[in-house]
Amino acid sequence: MRMTTSSSVGAGLVVLVATVCLLLPAATRAQLQVGFYNTSCPNAEALVRQAVAAAFANNSGIAAGLIRLHFHDCFVRGCDASVLLSVNPGGGKTEREAPPNNPSLRGFEVPAGRRDGNVSKEGDALKNLPGPNNTATGLIDGFAAKNLTAEEMVVLSGSHTIGRSHCDSFLFKNRERLANGTISPAYQALLEALCPPTTNQFTPNTTEIDLSTPTVLDNNYYKLLPLNLGLHFSDDQLIRNATTAPNVAAFAANETLWKEKFISAMIKMGRIEVNTGAQGEVRLNCSIVNAPSSSTGIEMLLPGTSDDRADEVATS
Ligand code: HEM
Ligand SMILES: *[C@@H]1O[C@H](CO)[C@@H](O)[C@H](O)[C@H]1NC(C)=O
Ligand SMILES: *[C@@H]1O[C@H](CO)[C@@H](O)[C@H](O)[C@H]1NC(C)=O
Ligand SMILES: *[C@@H]1O[C@H](CO)[C@@H](O)[C@H](O)[C@H]1NC(C)=O
Ligand SMILES: *[C@@H]1O[C@H](CO)[C@@H](O)[C@H](O)[C@H]1NC(C)=O
Ligand SMILES: *[C@@H]1O[C@H](CO)[C@@H](O)[C@H](O)[C@H]1NC(C)=O
Ligand SMILES: *[C@@H]1O[C@H](CO)[C@@H](O)[C@H](O)[C@H]1NC(C)=O
Ligand SMILES: *[C@@H]1O[C@H](CO)[C@@H](O)[C@H](O)[C@H]1NC(C)=O
Ligand SMILES: *[C@@H]1O[C@H](CO)[C@@H](O)[C@H](O)[C@H]1NC(C)=O
Ligand SMILES: *[C@@H]1O[C@H](CO)[C@@H](O)[C@H](O)[C@H]1NC(C)=O
Ligand SMILES: *[C@@H]1O[C@H](CO)[C@@H](O)[C@H](O)[C@H]1NC(C)=O
Repeated sequence: MRMTTSSSVGAGLVVLVATVCLLLPAATRAQLQVGFYNTSCPNAEALVRQAVAAAFANNSGIAAGLIRLHFHDCFVRGCDASVLLSVNPGGGKTEREAPPNNPSLRGFEVPAGRRDGNVSKEGDALKNLPGPNNTATGLIDGFAAKNLTAEEMVVLSGSHTIGRSHCDSFLFKNRERLANGTISPAYQALLEALCPPTTNQFTPNTTEIDLSTPTVLDNNYYKLLPLNLGLHFSDDQLIRNATTAPNVAAFAANETLWKEKFISAMIKMGRIEVNTGAQGEVRLNCSIVNAPSSSTGIEMLLPGTSDDRADEVATS
């Protein structure tokens, strides 16, 4: 499930959608629209859902992988599947080769997208993605750069209620937290036992981010923070800052409130810098940009496939 695996399943999905869809011209609209495929490709969303369900049945960790993949796509050149590209057409490393994504990002096997970008640069990922060492101020500023509020940053961080993290993302920074008394000593002892002393970016050992209910999309993440059981420094920061601490308390107290806000914030994040009209292309193979000669025809018929929000898609 790591990024080194081939993306042939995803590419297969695109081909499948293209094969099943009726060859009707798509209406030209300048924004995302619910039901965009009602007539041109009524099966599109069912096919995506089916592919995701199959991947989840094979490995339930894919749920966390896909949520993070969506985030890391949207924060770098917008939600344009630039994170899926395995080759930087301009030369140099791609987004997925950048340390925040490599080797930790997963889910490349079931990609989809709206209109796809044709640029993918490591430097863009490094510049735009928040990291586990960021302070509350750094996190707030990083989300503000994407027009997301501090509260939305706290809401979306609740994704850490599922999924896993590599030792390099927390081990050394948490030693500083231990000295500051902002991590439970017992928790850090457990993490020290899990992680080799030689930990680096490629050390494979991982741990669950939410140590009590790691596979349930609940509000437990927020309840762990005041117990000094937040895994990353960045998670812990949410209760140390006067702007974000009240949000954490509110979501810990009311799971329904968090879930409502999570849905809205995910949809808002999914609208960051979406390619519309003639921008971008519809990739024939999710891992590589189209050859110059293959740029027409299918784009009119397949204006985009939905991603984790199966009811909202881009227009051509
Ligand atoms: C607020 C800034 C954020 C920071 C600093 C951050 C940092 C991290 C880090 C360091 C990991 C572990 C990576 C690894 O070592 O394997 C991680 C995992 C994860 N993050 Fe975030 N994150 C942030 C926000 C988000 C957002 C907005 C989402 C989605 C809406 C998200 C979803 C996830 C998920 C689902 C995982 C688990 C991935 C897996 O199991 O494969 N995070 N995050
Ligand atoms: C099933 O999951 C394993 C990891 O658990 C992964 O290596 C494999 O590629 C997955 N297969 C499919 C078809 O998604
Ligand atoms: C897509 O491109 C990648 C990278 O060139 C290649 O490994 C893969 O086989 C291609 N997939 C399909 C279905 O052609
Ligand atoms: C697509 O169908 C759904 C369900 O019937 C409907 O709610 C939606 O408005 C339709 N959208 C378009 C663009 O036709
Ligand atoms: C909390 O974050 C806000 C916004 O970045 C910042 O102005 C403030 O100084 C931070 N407070 C603390 C205690 O870090
Ligand atoms: C944020 O909003 C401003 C004003 O509407 C817009 O110009 C800018 O492109 C937006 N930034 C992103 C990343 O969506
Ligand atoms: C985070 O901080 C720790 C401790 O200072 C350091 O070892 C680690 O390299 C930093 N990680 C990143 C991604 O900057
Ligand atoms: C430790 O506390 C100091 C003083 O409050 C603070 O500046 C520093 O960022 C903290 N470091 C960690 C890793 O918590
Ligand atoms: C880390 O992972 C490696 C490889 O899976 C394993 O051999 C080792 O026992 C794990 N734990 C530590 C503390 O090294
Ligand atoms: C929890 O939040 C929901 C959704 O906003 C709200 O309807 C409900 O009244 C809240 N519950 C409490 C006990 O405040
Ligand atoms: C990407 O597409 C744009 C048009 O959408 C084009 O101008 C540009 O040359 C393309 N870049 C690459 C690297 O293919």
